[in-house]
Amino acid sequence: MLRTPAAVRDAERFTAHNYHPLPVVVSSAEGAWLTDIDGRRYLDCLAGYSALNFGHRHPRLIAAAHAQLDRLTLTSRAFIHDQFADFCRELAELCGKDMVLPMNTGAEAVETGIKVARKWGYRVKGVPAGQANIVVAEGNFHGRTTTIVSFSTDDEARADFGPYTSGFTVVPYGDLTALEAAIDDNTVAVLLEPIQGEQGVVVPPEGYLSGVRRVCTERNVLFVADEIQSGLGRTGATFACDHEGVAPDLYLLGKALGGGIVPVSAVAGNADVLGVLQPGQHGSTFGGNPLACAVATEVVRLLTTGEFQRRSAELGERLHAGLRALIGRGLVAVRGRGLWAGLDIDPALMTGRQACELLMERGVLAKDTHGSTIRLAPPLVITVDEIDHAVTQLAAVLAG
Ligand SMILES: Cc1ncc(COP(=O)(O)O)c(C=O)c1O
Repeated sequence: MLRTPAAVRDAERFTAHNYHPLPVVVSSAEGAWLTDIDGRRYLDCLAGYSALNFGHRHPRLIAAAHAQLDRLTLTSRAFIHDQFADFCRELAELCGKDMVLPMNTGAEAVETGIKVARKWGYRVKGVPAGQANIVVAEGNFHGRTTTIVSFSTDDEARADFGPYTSGFTVVPYGDLTALEAAIDDNTVAVLLEPIQGEQGVVVPPEGYLSGVRRVCTERNVLFVADEIQSGLGRTGATFACDHEGVAPDLYLLGKALGGGIVPVSAVAGNADVLGVLQPGQHGSTFGGNPLACAVATEVVRLLTTGEFQRRSAELGERLHAGLRALIGRGLVAVRGRGLWAGLDIDPALMTGRQACELLMERGVLAKDTHGSTIRLAPPLVITVDEIDHAVTQLAAVLAG
């Protein structure tokens, strides 16, 4: 087996360079901890960009996967399998919605939301054919498809991938007046992250989400909340929208829904919206497959007790208090909610990448974004001592 330097070199040599990973080669993991091929252990403070909210190899999720692997893995949606109805019903109930549409990746859930909103616009709202428009926010990150990058404001994600899909209006994030002004008779939806993850865990001003809800209702526009990263316990509630007591018309879910085992995404909504789709108009060979449903049903059940949401809220307080104490000692700002934090490092000190490399040497894994920002999103199974350990290591890195 390759040792670390050779494995890093070969990973670089034989893959397209669409990522810039830290030079760590992981071979096993449990809970909040990863082990590399040389036996070194690391505290995971990224959790697969929130795909591992329940930690690595949660026993109940692994058991559900094993049991399903021994029985049935794929039927396609041409037939109904015995895991399907439970998954759809239980996820719909968790979301407080009538029904769900299962897909695989987050980007597919976003594409599904866009298609549903447009079709709803034409068939229900009465928008003239081909004129549907969706309002989105500056600094958004909704995935990597050609349509989704068409309305990205990040040049790295968008440049050179045109021609771009039209039908999107970009407004500043957190600015309700600008959002309301951008809505016209052809607007079918407002598509937003309730907290912008990739942008650096940007929390909108208090009252923004409830304002978006109010405006969408008044103007007969769907509120589509991309909770792919913010949802399923990450922020100390089941959904980030819960913090303002807001229910969007469509929830877009992904990442943690697959329990860190399989890609599972879904759109949840009521029948008057999701019901616009008819057979043949949308689908996916793997969407809602038996293995995905077995794992994701267990994910939903883990969330129904509220234990993970509580952990995230309580331990998040501890994490944010520890991080705030570092403002002026290497950090210039800390944002976030629950076990989710965006930290801006003093650019005079080092880049986010450099900080992550130094953290890695100290056995803590995190990921930089946009120059001097680091995101922390540890698995929700992390303990108080482990949070303190991560903060101590960060303090040491910043102290040089
Ligand atoms: C808010 C949000 N939406 C959509 C996506 C895309 O998900 P995926 O990478 O599974 O396509 C991401 C991924 O980071 C995300 O954070």
